[in-house]
Amino acid sequence: MTGFFLTFEGGEGSGKSTQVSRLAEFLREDGWTVRVTREPGGSPAAEALRDILLAGDIRALGEEMETLLFAAARADHIQAVIAPALAAGEVVLCDRFHDSTRIYQAPFRQAQPAFFDLIERSALAGTTPDLTILLDLPADEGLQRAAARRGAAVADRFEGEGLETHETRRFEFLRLAREEPERCRIVDAGRPVDLVARDIRDIVGNLLTVRSVKAARYTTVAPSA
Ligand code: TYD
Repeated sequence: MTGFFLTFEGGEGSGKSTQVSRLAEFLREDGWTVRVTREPGGSPAAEALRDILLAGDIRALGEEMETLLFAAARADHIQAVIAPALAAGEVVLCDRFHDSTRIYQAPFRQAQPAFFDLIERSALAGTTPDLTILLDLPADEGLQRAAARRGAAVADRFEGEGLETHETRRFEFLRLAREEPERCRIVDAGRPVDLVARDIRDIVGNLLTVRSVKAARYTTVAPSA
């Protein structure tokens, strides 16, 4: 039995966590067993790395070591949480995954593409998303939303970067999604939450229906003699 692995990606303040919860609620009501998780983090070891990764001090280690730490966190998250949930047939919803590394650690990826790919493959060990929802929003709107949500708390090191950097990431996310149209769907996140949630429900609901119909067919076909 294999489950369904869905990742949510997008810039700061694009509404990923809200949409993950909304979709989880909908799918549970529809009878699916849903596992909600996030990156960086998602397993005890990866959550410990999260605090380090989001603090400013990590910059001193350089992009290569930072990418390795994100990969280490991901490898543990997959082994401890994602792969067992998929093996049990669950629908896994993950707030950020490997595309975030491709976009946020882009300078290292551009400098050493072969090494970056090797690190990515080694962390994933074959566990790749069946579907990725990219929540697209102009960077300035996203940063305003993120600042409002954060209130008086200090911005993490990524959120604190300049508008131009965030705008570049937005276009790189869009480019990446267009390069992998089979896996990625772009959703306009600049609309009211309910409309965004409805679009995501339609996309995911259709895919899960197609999948369960196929699975039912597969299990009812008698093995040839
Ligand atoms: P988080 O507080 O989860 O932010 P958001 O609500 O925007 O998802 O912080 C995660 C931050 O870590 C975010 O700024 C993106 C960054 N990040 C990377 O740089 N590389 C990665 O591989 C991942 C998963 C996240």
